[in-house]
Amino acid sequence: MTLRISNLGKHYGEVPVFENVTLEVQPGEFVAIVGESGVGKSTLLNCMAGLDSWDQGTVTHDGTDIGALDGEACALWRRKHVGFVFQAFHVLPHLDVAQNVSLPLMLLGQKKDDGRVAHMLDAVGLPGMGARLPQTLSGGQLQRVAIARALVHRPALLLADEPTGNLDPTTAAKVMELLIGQTREHGASLVLVTHSESAAARADRLLHLTAAGIRA
Ligand SMILES: Nc1ncnc2c1ncn2[C@@H]1O[C@H](COP(=O)(O)OP(=O)(O)OP(=O)(O)O)[C@@H](O)[C@H]1O
Ligand SMILES: [Mg+2]
Repeated sequence: MTLRISNLGKHYGEVPVFENVTLEVQPGEFVAIVGESGVGKSTLLNCMAGLDSWDQGTVTHDGTDIGALDGEACALWRRKHVGFVFQAFHVLPHLDVAQNVSLPLMLLGQKKDDGRVAHMLDAVGLPGMGARLPQTLSGGQLQRVAIARALVHRPALLLADEPTGNLDPTTAAKVMELLIGQTREHGASLVLVTHSESAAARADRLLHLTAAGIRA
C-alpha cells in the first residue's frame, strides 16, 4: 500500500505552512522527515493521516484519495490502516494502560486479545504494567504506551511524531527496532518525524521539510 503525497500545500490565513510537498512511501519503506521547529512537520503528518485539511494537492493511500473521504469514511480508513504516534501522546487518562493499547482493536470490532496487548507491552519495555493508570507513568513510559497502541493492529501506514523524544538512548533504540520491524516484516510504510540523528540515520531516505517544499 503506497502513500502518495502530491504537491501538498497548507496555509493558515495568509501564512503558508508548507508548499509543493511531493513524496511517495512504498510498503516496507522507512522515510524520516527532519526540519526546524515550526516548519510544519506535525501538520504534514496530520495531513497524511487525514487528521488535518490542506489547501492544495492530494494525499492517496493504496489509491484511496484521503481528501475526498468524508469524516466518517476517513475515520474508518484511519482505524484500519493507520498507526499514529502523536508528539503529545494522547493517551486516554481514564483508561488503564492495557485498555489504551487495545483501543485500536476494540474500534475495529476485534475481540479482546490480552495476549497481544501483553506482548506489545513487553515489546516496549512495559511488562506487567497493563493495569496502571496513565497518571502513574513517566513521560517516557507514556510515550511507549502510545507506541504500543500505534502498532497493536499492525497498520499498513505508520506515522510517528518524535516517538523517541522522551526516551533514553537504549529505550529509544528498542522502540526504533519495533517501528522498523513492523515496516520490514509486515510491509508497513513508516514516516518518522524526528530531531534524533541516530533515529534518522536508520531511515531508507531522509527528507528535509522547509517552507518551500521537501527535499533529500
Ligand atoms: N491553528 C493554527 N493557527 C495558526 N498557525 C498554526 C496553527 N497550528 C499550527 N500553526 C503553525 O503552523 C506551523 C507548523 O506547526 P507544526 O506543529 O506542524 O510544526 P513542527 O514542524 O511539527 O514543529 P516542532 O518541531 O516544534 O514540533 C507553526 O509555525 C505553528 O505555529
Ligand atoms: Mg511537531
